[in-house]
Amino acid sequence: MSRITGAVRVAGIVGNPVAHSLSPIIHNAWIEALGLDAAYAAFAPRDADGFATLVEAGRAGLIAGVNVTAPFKEQAFALADAATDTARASGSANILRFRDGEVEADSADGEGLLWALKDQAPGLDLNGAPVVMLGAGGAARAAVAALAVAGARVRIVNRTRERAEALAADIGLGVQSADPDSAFEGAQLVVNALSATPQLDPARFQPGTVVMDMSYRPVETPFLKAAKAAGLTTVDGLAMLIGQAGPSFRVLFDVESPAIDPRPLLLAHLGEAG
Ligand code: ATR
Repeated sequence: MSRITGAVRVAGIVGNPVAHSLSPIIHNAWIEALGLDAAYAAFAPRDADGFATLVEAGRAGLIAGVNVTAPFKEQAFALADAATDTARASGSANILRFRDGEVEADSADGEGLLWALKDQAPGLDLNGAPVVMLGAGGAARAAVAALAVAGARVRIVNRTRERAEALAADIGLGVQSADPDSAFEGAQLVVNALSATPQLDPARFQPGTVVMDMSYRPVETPFLKAAKAAGLTTVDGLAMLIGQAGPSFRVLFDVESPAIDPRPLLLAHLGEAG
């Protein structure tokens, strides 16, 4: 018998494309485990106007809240009436909560990144650590903000230098745009936030460097595979996705996520089980 009644609490993920999002798998598994009268769907607005219409539907009380993914994270932040410090720091939001006609922006991406590092590289101490961020696009934004707040000295390396400089200026906190020839010296962590495979050999990083990739298709990206082959500790993007889902669930459904690790389910879904 379906748990879903007329009192169902509906949330979801908004992005375009969104069909391959793993967020519905995670949230619906948790909803099921807790037996909530709730559902987590997926929405793909055609364009920015479509996204704005969805936010209006939320404002009108039709949806409890949404996670937001590319390309709408900056627009989500801009359309909100209020924002958490974390969302404000990165100028983007991956959560919108609709309450009493108000739209609140939050961002759990940074928390997801820190969770992933703690989970897969527990020995890494970010405080005072030189960290290289590859990329200065939407994906890099929340990550750089979270790393800087955690005390890391972030060096941004990007094909378009001006974009790295603009991101560094936006975040402040000692974040700098850096030259690829010198940025890796002494780096304790290198994070890939590019939408392309980095043209970099991790074997040139110093021993002990932690290498993280924010993309997770496949979970072991060519960049992570090369880092592992060079004997370095690696952190994958699937851990970051899982790390942001917990705080998202709390905001969207007003209850803690259950202690169920969605990773095996996600690996099976990606066809990477075992
Ligand atoms: P996302 O939301 O995934 O971050 P984005 O905002 O378009 O997407 O950012 C993509 C990032 O990957 C940028 O840092 C981009 O570099 P530019 O700012 O110079 O465009 C980087 N990128 C994309 N394709 C690249 C390539 N072939 N070589 C190097 N960098 C690339």
